[in-house]
Amino acid sequence: MKALVLTTATRTTAVEDLPIPTPAAGEILVRVHAIALNPVDTLYTSKPIAAQPQRVVGTDFAGVVVEAAANLAASSDARTKPGARVSGFLQGACSVNDRPGAFAEYLVISYDLVWLVPESLSLEDASAISMCGLTAAQGLFTRLDLPAPFGSDPKSRPALAPATVFIYGASTSLGLYAAQLVRASARASGRHIRLVGAASASKHQLLRQEPYSYDALVDYRDPSWPEKVRAAALGGNGVQYALDCISEGETVAKVHSTFADDVEGDGHFGVFRAPAGGGYQPQGLRVKPVYGAAWEALGVEVGYNGFVLPANPEARAFGVTFYNYLSASAPSGAPVLQPNPVRLMPGGLERVVPDGFELLGSLQVSARSATSGRTETWMRPVSGEKIVYSLGVAP
Ligand SMILES: NC(=O)c1ccc[n+]([C@@H]2O[C@H](COP(=O)([O-])OP(=O)(O)OC[C@H]3O[C@@H](n4cnc5c(N)ncnc54)[C@H](OP(=O)(O)O)[C@@H]3O)[C@@H](O)[C@H]2O)c1
Repeated sequence: MKALVLTTATRTTAVEDLPIPTPAAGEILVRVHAIALNPVDTLYTSKPIAAQPQRVVGTDFAGVVVEAAANLAASSDARTKPGARVSGFLQGACSVNDRPGAFAEYLVISYDLVWLVPESLSLEDASAISMCGLTAAQGLFTRLDLPAPFGSDPKSRPALAPATVFIYGASTSLGLYAAQLVRASARASGRHIRLVGAASASKHQLLRQEPYSYDALVDYRDPSWPEKVRAAALGGNGVQYALDCISEGETVAKVHSTFADDVEGDGHFGVFRAPAGGGYQPQGLRVKPVYGAAWEALGVEVGYNGFVLPANPEARAFGVTFYNYLSASAPSGAPVLQPNPVRLMPGGLERVVPDGFELLGSLQVSARSATSGRTETWMRPVSGEKIVYSLGVAP
């Protein structure tokens, strides 16, 4: 098969031939039809943390099940059946220890770490959802402790006071899924939530509409946005919950300044970069920024940016539950989450590095260049979109 392979010593990434992997116990073999790009895919190919000479890169994928491991022969789970349309994510080169990557014609993965794609969703659209959709859910339901719209019956829980949730970076991939999940949480629990976001003014119209339905929006380029967020909250005096979907440099302190004065401690402030990677100081903040990594849902120990994320069975169980929630509308229902607007790029695996990685760059998201200097229409700056490649498999 063809796969996109990082050679760590030279920091180069190229399409190479590799053997098709064999599913181990509990795993399925997937023919990959579409892949979606994430900032981490470029970050850890330009500055590798992998300890191996070569690694298959890439996180997000969608495809069709080819076969399942022999021990799944008796399983009635639809994800173990050849022909099932599934989506999920792998770690790519984003770890020190050896982990598989998704930018390949075939991959193997635990059957319960993929979700069933309904017929109403193309595999290209589905590939945009898996990693950032799950990360947004982790942020909201395990770090902010908002009631999840799945698992135990949300309506059976005690009534919760109305609250304001603020999403900084509302047009990021994370932000677009987080808004949908906040709305789903409010619907399922009956809790009144006012949703406030910060994004470029050019994205406000999109964000006011379904499925995001923001109540108030500010422009992150307006220097007075933090005061405007405080004023837009219920009671006009600051927010109860916030996600910083950028978590770089001064964004963390600025988002922190939007909290109501009586909010403190854990469980209110979700961030998606660790302090070292994001370049911010969490010390001394009254409301503690709580970081977590999507990788935890894979349920294995991960060597990451100078620290080790231990194997976390609870995080894996949450990932399984979340993907069951996404699977619930298959085969014939409407998607549970709407995908980010997708930019379907020309070419396949061979164009990922020269075009897709070039567009995303390897700098921080907030430092991404406004222009790549390229004139092709598909090389215009990325804004509120997911970069997706089809691997050219006949439907
Ligand atoms: N912890 C985890 O497991 C995890 C998982 C996924 C992602 N992440 C991290 O989370 C961050 C976001 O990832 P993503 O994939 O959601 O990003 P993304 O979709 O690539 O974000 C691009 C968007 O960021 C917006 N943006 C750029 N600078 C901004 C700023 N200073 N303030 C507000 N918005 C700004 C841009 O909006 P405009 O074009 O409108 O300006 C652009 O649309 C990345 O650093 C990523 O590595 C972490």
